Amino acid sequence: MSKVTVVGAGNVGATVANVLAHKDIVKEVVLLDIRGDFAKGKALDTWEQAPIDYYSTMVRGTDNYKDTKNSDIVVITAGIPRKPGMSRDDLISTNAKIVASVTKSIMKYSKKPIIIVVSNPLDVMTYAAWKASGLDASRVMGMAGILDTARYRAFLAEALDVSPKDLQAVLMGGHGDTMVPLPRYTTVAGIPVTEMIDRETLKAIVERTKKGGGELVKLMGTSAWYAPGAAAAQMVESIVKNDNRIFPCCVRLTGEYGLKDIFLGVPVKLGKEGITQKLELKLNKTEMKSLHKSADAVRSVMKTFEKMKIS
Ligand code: NAI
Ligand code: 2OP
Repeated sequence: MSKVTVVGAGNVGATVANVLAHKDIVKEVVLLDIRGDFAKGKALDTWEQAPIDYYSTMVRGTDNYKDTKNSDIVVITAGIPRKPGMSRDDLISTNAKIVASVTKSIMKYSKKPIIIVVSNPLDVMTYAAWKASGLDASRVMGMAGILDTARYRAFLAEALDVSPKDLQAVLMGGHGDTMVPLPRYTTVAGIPVTEMIDRETLKAIVERTKKGGGELVKLMGTSAWYAPGAAAAQMVESIVKNDNRIFPCCVRLTGEYGLKDIFLGVPVKLGKEGITQKLELKLNKTEMKSLHKSADAVRSVMKTFEKMKIS
């Protein structure tokens, strides 16, 4: 794997390119944006950082899809972010058209790339990219679960006064306020989190996680980029290195958890062919009910998408 394209050179896209360059695991990162020379500037700035931070990955900026030719992996961050008062779902009318047209342009120059979608509303935009790409569903996925789980782990680490490195957790469902953090699958250096924290604090952290994206929009007037960018780069890394790491990713379900014909966050293995396995956890009744409620929320956004009749 040698070439990664990142579409959208805004806050998230530029961060993905920068974090990836620092990992020094691919030959080339192409950063593409429709904003004239903007991507060229962002890419040049990251390349000029290479002698300081010691990496060899070449980062090039462009506004021309020809430069994306033969990409192995494509990360789509193009689209508008949330402003205060907006939900992720409010973005659909603008972003659905952008994601579909970006995907088609990518497919003109790369035969079988692996596509990672970041644009919101995430679960439906991942479906839009899959549909527009014609690719096998194992090669199209969305980034949200790594970010949402990271927020949950960070809040827990702070409350417990431990290193975030020691927090492991699973979080499932859509990238919205109905997401499902799973305390039963959360450990602190192997110790069940429920043995380390009282119920009320844990409950408050679960609620804060669900609204984690909105918290940042309120603070900054736009949505987050450092953790989202690093999360997408982590997915790229597992694919490039064929690590088969397990991450919660938005993927097409075909009956798992009693759900089908929907893109939703579940734990998967990520390797060089994309999604190499979808894991089916033995959820209890309450967890399963929450997951299905989250799927219902995604389906209602899907209805808006279907009405748009984007071909
Ligand atoms: P931004 O506004 O900083 O950057 C978006 C970039 O996309 C802009 O530079 C814009 O020129 C470009 N763009 C727009 N239309 C394009 C097109 N047709 N082709 C190429 N480039 C195009 O926004 P930011 O903060 O980078 O967010 C990007 C998207 O990612 C938003 O939809 C946001 O909601 C989403 N997001 C998703 C997260 C997740 O967990 N899945 C986390 C953070 C953001
Ligand atoms: C987030 O959760 C906006 O989806 C983005 O930060």
